[in-house]
Parts: sequence; structure tokens; C-alpha cells
Amino acid sequence: MPTKQAGLTKKTVVSAADPVLATSVGAVAFTNPILTASGTYGSGKEYTDFVDLADLGGVVTKSVTLNPIRGNPPPRVVETPSGMLNAIGLQNEGVHVFLNELLPPLKKQARKVVVNVAGKSKEDYLEVTSILDKSGVDALELNISCPNVKEGGIAFGVCAQTAAGLVSEIRKRTTLPLWVKLSPNVTDIVSIAKAVQDAGADALVVSNTYLGMAIDIEKKKPILANITGGLSGPAIHPLALRMVWQVAKNVSCPVVAVGGVKSVREVIAFLLAGASAVEVGTMNFVDPSICGRLPLELADWCRSHETTVKKLIGALEA
Ligand SMILES: Cc1cc2nc3c(=O)[nH]c(=O)nc-3n(C[C@H](O)[C@H](O)[C@H](O)COP(=O)(O)O)c2cc1C
Repeated sequence: MPTKQAGLTKKTVVSAADPVLATSVGAVAFTNPILTASGTYGSGKEYTDFVDLADLGGVVTKSVTLNPIRGNPPPRVVETPSGMLNAIGLQNEGVHVFLNELLPPLKKQARKVVVNVAGKSKEDYLEVTSILDKSGVDALELNISCPNVKEGGIAFGVCAQTAAGLVSEIRKRTTLPLWVKLSPNVTDIVSIAKAVQDAGADALVVSNTYLGMAIDIEKKKPILANITGGLSGPAIHPLALRMVWQVAKNVSCPVVAVGGVKSVREVIAFLLAGASAVEVGTMNFVDPSICGRLPLELADWCRSHETTVKKLIGALEA
């Protein structure tokens, strides 16, 4: 029998749509704050043996570009202590295959679909945005922070003026909620966050991977064919947490956190630091069921602490 406790109904069985989990990122309402991180979940179908996609707050897709991209030559991933380096290089089938083949089944299964958009040039970003504008997706996430491509990607995300210029042009092409995924490979992420917000971003995603490298000491050669790659996984969580906190207290738009989530504890830490939703990436490769479990564990934690996700957001006492 449910019992009443401090205004919350205490239940023994929690669900991924438990009201304590409700959150929103600007105008987009989510049943729970657990989203997938771009590039670690394909377009969802790879995980349906492990997770009911409807149990997630939403799915953020792999970066979609105008034309298909084969990505970088292998080796493209290396395991590191508590993390991994990747230099995939935005491999994807292009926006038209995405729209015709990948998006329809995803829209049927996921509660919310956020499409991550990348480009080699400003024109690429603008065209992909225009094409997706009427696709019925819930939001766009602009990847201006990919560290693994020669043109585009991070080149747009490391200078406040360039980032703001791109975002203001894209803003004119779509009425969809526009999230901008920032690069952590900068001296002052707050100045870029503010510039991008002022240029029309509806939310900031903090953040992409941290530039790193690995060396095969016997061969005296880099392990990644691309030489450098982006570091992700539990190793980066403290760095991401610091940036989420810094950004959230300096902007007025919502922040979506990403970096190193491996359990419900990092999700709660991100919420306390000011995030309205949390993306989970590398740990999907270790435990493909994690995104289905986290909402349940978070609901359980909220109920046992007599709180809600909305109350946790930005509740850090510092
Ligand atoms: C293999 C791999 C591929 C990725 N591809 C993309 C991508 O296409 N677009 C993007 O914005 N981020 C991409 N990312 C970055 C993730 O979305 C996320 O920002 C990063 O991995 C940090 O989160 P995590 O520590 O939970 O993995 C990729 C990460 C990995 C590990």
C-alpha cells in the first residue's frame, strides 16, 4: 500500500515515469532526466535488447551531417584508466538516410528524440538544420565541439565569437529548441557559454570529450591513427562536474550535463550542480542496460530522500 510522506507518495515499486523524476529543458518536458550521449547509442536500435527506449527521458542521436562520412581510419578507440579515447571522426550515413531510415523507428520507440547536428562548414550546419526543422524531432543538439575532425567540429566551439556567429545563423533556420554542445578544451568555458546563449541557444550541453592521446611505448607510435582523440568515461566526471557548475551559475538557460556518469551518484551530483538533464555515454559500452536502470535508481533515491529531480536541480550549497 502506498504511504504518504512529507507530501510525496512513498511507493515500494518505482517506474521510469515516476512523477518525482519529471524535468524539463526549456520548453521540452521529460519524464525523467536520463538521456543518451551522442555517438554512444547509435540511433537507439542497437540497445533495444537491453533497454526499453521508452524508459529513458530521451535519446540523443549520433552526430548527423549533410553528407555521409566514413570517419577516421582505425585504430579509433583505446581503453584508458577509467575511460576511453575515441577518434571516430563523425562517421554517419548523412541526413537523408537518417531521416528516411533511422529516425522513423526511433520516433516510435523513444519518448523524446534530440538530433545531434555536426558539419564541416557553416553551410553544412545550416542545411542540415533546415532539413531537420520540420522532421518532428524534439530538439537539435549542435555539436560544435568534436575534437576528432580536421574541418568544422571543435573549430566552431573554441572561440566565443565564432561559436556565437554560427549559433545565431542556425537560430534563424529553425524554430526547434536549440541545444549547443560545448567543448571543454578551452580556457574559459563560461565566456563561450554566455556568448552562445546570447546568440539564441535554448540550452547548453556541457560537454564533449577532452582532447588526449595514447602512445604504444614499444613501437614508439601513437595508438590512434588520428594521433589524438577525445577522452570520456568515469575519468572525466570531476572535470565535467566543475564545468557544469561553473556554466550553470553563470547562464540563465538550462544546462544538460554529460561526462563520466557510471551510477546514479554522478547523476545526482550533476543535478545538484545545476543540470536539468543528464546524458550517459561511455558506460553504455560497459553496461548496455545502464540507461534503463538509472531512472529507477534515481526514483528510488528521490523517494528515500523525500525529494524530486526538480528540487535537486541547482540545490548545491556552496
Ligand atoms: C565512441 C564515442 C563517439 C562519440 N561521438 C560523438 C558524436 O558523434 N557527437 C557528439 O556530439 N559527441 C560524441 N561523443 C561524445 C559523447 O556524446 C559525450 O559527450 C562524451 O563521451 C562524455 O560522456 P561520457 O563520459 O558519459 O562518455 C562520442 C563519445 C564516444 C565515446
